[in-house]
Amino acid sequence: MTAAVPATELSIETTGLSKRFGHQLAVDGVDLAVPKGSVFGFLGPNGSGKTTTIRLMLGLAVPTGGSVRLLGEDMPRQLHGVLPRVGALVEGPAFYPFLSGAANLHRFDAADPHVPAATRKARVRSALERVGLTHAADKKVRAYSLGMKQRLGIANALLAPRDLLILDEPTNGLDPQGTREVRSLVRSLAADGATVFVSSHLLAEVEQICTHAAIMSAGRLVAQGTLEELRQGGQARIRVVTPDAGTAAEVLSRLGLSAATSPGGAAPGGGGVLYAPLPGAAGNGEAAPEAVVAALVAAGVRVRGFAIEQVSLEDRFVALTGEGFDVVQ
Ligand SMILES: Nc1ncnc2c1ncn2[C@@H]1O[C@H](COP(=O)(O)OP(=O)(O)O)[C@@H](O)[C@H]1O
Ligand SMILES: [Mg+2]
Repeated sequence: MTAAVPATELSIETTGLSKRFGHQLAVDGVDLAVPKGSVFGFLGPNGSGKTTTIRLMLGLAVPTGGSVRLLGEDMPRQLHGVLPRVGALVEGPAFYPFLSGAANLHRFDAADPHVPAATRKARVRSALERVGLTHAADKKVRAYSLGMKQRLGIANALLAPRDLLILDEPTNGLDPQGTREVRSLVRSLAADGATVFVSSHLLAEVEQICTHAAIMSAGRLVAQGTLEELRQGGQARIRVVTPDAGTAAEVLSRLGLSAATSPGGAAPGGGGVLYAPLPGAAGNGEAAPEAVVAALVAAGVRVRGFAIEQVSLEDRFVALTGEGFDVVQ
């Protein structure tokens, strides 16, 4: 599915990661490979096991099987060495509504034994600036919008320099304006050089902000790779409309293309519709589309229609998860 990436180039690597709750396998043998420097979308419908996987990665829950490496180190064994390099937003932190955003960050920072108190003030200021909350630093959090609270949560994850950011559904529950703010923030975090692992149940969101993605369905990892690789896994196909479907199928087969006739049957005006996975995709021959047309015509096939149909990521995800995604927003 993905090209093999050397283990040292992976920010997150899980092997056979599993978590059972009673009879339910919430996470079932997940092998994730998150390349360093990627913006990695962890996509799946609600209940597919995303939050549980993230909690296992961070040592917030204990796996019933498998293992996790973060930044090349075994978790949870190296937890104390690794966690200072990881910023996380899992289930929005509970802020004190009667304190300002800055005061809340001061409290969280003071609770972190890995960071120097002497630089606290400057780090809080710079984290607030990073998420665009400087103007609201002294405002009480109860006056913050949801989007502002979420950005404050991200600021909390940015109180120290991080190599890896893990954000669990950071746009959940936000209005369109807040969603836009958080999405552009996530994009810019990656531009700063950190690896960003971000979960979402929104396909469109992952397409907008991510370089890579993994798809969860009912606790299992069903695909992962660059967005391009994921689309290609979805077998773009050629579509041939012809009254000479039998001959056409033979020609395609000679070219190494496994053709199937349309389950829908005849094309308008008579004749059949054949489909074959796009040449070059999924090891299905190397014939270029123009060579396919030429071969069909040379064999006397009356080609009434020829098209290349791109399978969208949405089609692909629906096929993999058996569920529709909420693609709006
Ligand atoms: N602490 C828990 N105890 C029992 N079941 C849980 C617990 N946490 C999660 N689950 C179950 O595990 C499954 C995956 O949940 P979750 O990881 O939250 O999915 P997602 O984040 O993709 O929505 C769900 O069926 C959920 O009900
Ligand atoms: Mg979740």
